[in-house]
Amino acid sequence: MSTKTELLDILQAMPDKYVSGTEIAKKLNISRNAVWKAIKVLEKEGYIIDSVSHRGYRLSTVSDVIDAGRIEQAITSYKCNVLVFPELASTNLTAKGLAANGEPEGTVIIAEKQTNGKGRMGRRFFSPAKTGLYMSIILRPVIQPSQALLITTAAAAAVAEILFEYTQKNIWIKWVNDIFCENLKVSGILTEAVFNAETSGLEYAILGIGINMKTPNEEFPDEIRDIAGVVGLDNKTRNELAAAILNRFFTYYMKLPEKCFLDSYRGYMKLTGHEVFILPGPTTESARIGLSGDKRYSEYQRGIVTGVTDNFHLLVRLSDGKIQELSSGEIELI
Ligand code: BTN
Repeated sequence: MSTKTELLDILQAMPDKYVSGTEIAKKLNISRNAVWKAIKVLEKEGYIIDSVSHRGYRLSTVSDVIDAGRIEQAITSYKCNVLVFPELASTNLTAKGLAANGEPEGTVIIAEKQTNGKGRMGRRFFSPAKTGLYMSIILRPVIQPSQALLITTAAAAAVAEILFEYTQKNIWIKWVNDIFCENLKVSGILTEAVFNAETSGLEYAILGIGINMKTPNEEFPDEIRDIAGVVGLDNKTRNELAAAILNRFFTYYMKLPEKCFLDSYRGYMKLTGHEVFILPGPTTESARIGLSGDKRYSEYQRGIVTGVTDNFHLLVRLSDGKIQELSSGEIELI
């Protein structure tokens, strides 16, 4: 472990206390000047360290630097290799490039910000710095292409569970992979699968997860202002959140075909009994926000959600009483 990392461990172990330079020097068996140099390295990386003469150093609770080593250490369910970037167009895009070059399963790409974060159905995912977690995971599952939905739903269950455990707020899944807090979307999941042209089998999948943790410094763009929100995770770092989600996700992923997250998914998919529009294919952001009286919606079928099948398909009872089973597409609440 480097001096910098050891120093960080000492400061993090005493979040509200000042630790003197002499004490740190003694613990690490280095000079006080070496302590000071290591403090400067941490500050350069973005850590905020209060330093008061005769008292020492204290790690500010607002320090929230994404640290690959810390995340890797905290994941016990899988051996992940975490790569952190200050800025990427899209972590999914970078992950795809790496996967195509043979990067193994369990590689996780995290970006401080994304300039072109990708959403489902050609939409964009607003990804400003400091206030959100944007990560993509390279997966090489041995499953049938038809089972790819299991990856997305396992991730949705993992994200919903962790956000609920952290906040105790009304967290729910809007089938198939949007996570809401109360009536605002706070997280989106985008799974992109790449198939082998010869075998038609799944070659790899990129699982992308975006979470709006805190209120962004810039406002949400106009097209999502009415539907996007934040979870309000002011007391959690992105390292903690990333590790917790990866831990939970890999627990499910390791035995994916057993679907042990099915009950949890159903529990968080709180739409049973609600009336919805069935949106079959790509829609623009503005169309999604349209209200029930909106003309753009009049052509869509509507019905009452009756549940989720064992394959995570949505069951909707149409007005003629027939049950429609949806394996893809999107729904919009009425
Ligand atoms: C959606 O809401 O439609 C899905 C959004 C997925 C966003 C995440 S952020 C990390 C990863 N990289 C991307 O470009 N997209 C996903």
